[in-house]
Amino acid sequence: MEVSVFETDITHIDTPVLIVNLFKGVTNPGGATGAVDELLEKSITSLIADKEITGTKGELTLIHTLGKMKAKRILIVGLGEQESFNQNTVRFVIAEACRFLKGKGITTASTILHGSGIGQIPPEAAARSITEGSLLGLYTFNKYKKEDKNSAESLHLTIVDNDPAKIPLITAGINTGKSISEGVALARDLVNEPANILTPEEMANQATNIANRLNMGVTVLDKKQLQHNKMNALLAVGSGSTQEPRLIILKYEGDPTNPNNHIAIVGKGITFDSGGISLKPAAGMWEMKGDMGGGAAVLGAMQAIGSLKPKINVIGVVAAAENMPSGSAVHPGDIITAMSGTTIEVDNTDAEGRMALADAVYYTEKVLGITKIIDMATLTGAMITALGTVGTGILGSNQDFVTSIISAGDNVDEKLWQLPLWEEYKEQNKSTWADIKNTGGRGGGAITAAFFIKAFIDKASWAHLDIAGTFMAKETKGHVIKGATGTPVRTLVELITNLAAN
Ligand code: BES
Ligand code: MN
Ligand code: ZN
Repeated sequence: MEVSVFETDITHIDTPVLIVNLFKGVTNPGGATGAVDELLEKSITSLIADKEITGTKGELTLIHTLGKMKAKRILIVGLGEQESFNQNTVRFVIAEACRFLKGKGITTASTILHGSGIGQIPPEAAARSITEGSLLGLYTFNKYKKEDKNSAESLHLTIVDNDPAKIPLITAGINTGKSISEGVALARDLVNEPANILTPEEMANQATNIANRLNMGVTVLDKKQLQHNKMNALLAVGSGSTQEPRLIILKYEGDPTNPNNHIAIVGKGITFDSGGISLKPAAGMWEMKGDMGGGAAVLGAMQAIGSLKPKINVIGVVAAAENMPSGSAVHPGDIITAMSGTTIEVDNTDAEGRMALADAVYYTEKVLGITKIIDMATLTGAMITALGTVGTGILGSNQDFVTSIISAGDNVDEKLWQLPLWEEYKEQNKSTWADIKNTGGRGGGAITAAFFIKAFIDKASWAHLDIAGTFMAKETKGHVIKGATGTPVRTLVELITNLAAN
């Protein structure tokens, strides 16, 4: 998949397909679509009159130009209602359009800069959305399929515009969109990758790769170094597996003269969550190959940050371990002393994510000295019960920080909904034997899990994203492809680039 820009008038472009658009309810198209319609002797207008084209969001109509203009075909994409139109609509419809073209075996296409006319989206943002829509919408994970592997013909998409002043803006938008989409694709790849390949060690290799490619610092703490640091909570989670845990730290220095201009993103990196001795039921257990979705998002976001180069220092931390039952596994009832010195009663070995994160966030604040921490994790089934698969739950200790993350998510169409951290819930984590218990009983499971992590945060501004409901998609729609979603990479990149700009 490649996206480029070309300065020309759309009525002159020689292309197998030109993508134009239509808002819902428009009976007499103007702008680019209107210009095409004139050349086609009003055939678009007449298709609208016949209700064959309605402009409904995602509607796709392919018509042949039969020599009436240089472009061989016109693909008219419906944008839906004009009032609800924004960059997310562009990303959505372009993704649908690109998959449609791919299905027809078309490998070269051109498109107008959707949204920059009456849609009033700045050219750079419009180009970015087109790039994200095409790259994310055509994402596939078929490296293990003999047949599909080679048939993945790439699409060359050219954005055409006749305004020379817009060309550099479009180019910038394409580059931004590319960096972000490649970060999302990396996160998707890591989640889709099975646990026999993506071990904690392999996750560390992936991080080292990113660091080498983009000139970032990388530190990987192996089992010995974790023991040396007394990170027994993370170690306990990995103790049943033959794959040893790792703490992975990536360091991007975008503002080296201002060390306090910093943020850390910390991800749960459980490469497989069998539940451990508190074994999960067999049905659907495969999904737990993606229990490193938080860590994958950290690596994906770090890759995007490293290529976008915002003026801020960003630390990415992944707590990687495999949760397996065995003779060396942690038992229910075990009491573990975390790096912070807090003792944890392991009520359920399947509540492993919060334990891995406990040491990771503590290390991030106390050893790395970061004062702004976001952790993300496929943490609780309770989160799926609360918000389903539509939105990610967010909880945090600093309201301004939480609000800024929610609004970053809004900008990129990754929905975040805040849950309360009312002190009453905290009681549920009380242990008879230790300082804290790793389960919080029946109700409010997503909240008690967040409170558990909070117990290992001291003064830092902290926010927690529970992506249990959003890390995998059951069906392909718009830029979302069945399987790993790459959530919340785009939110993180949006937030971090916003922080850097202000
Ligand atoms: N990784 C799971 C949560 C999960 C479940 C994520 C389904 C995505 C899809 C987590 O480690 C877990 O097992 N949580 C338990 C905690 C419980 C034992 C307190 C849960 O939510 O059931
Ligand atoms: Mn679990
Ligand atoms: Zn888990």
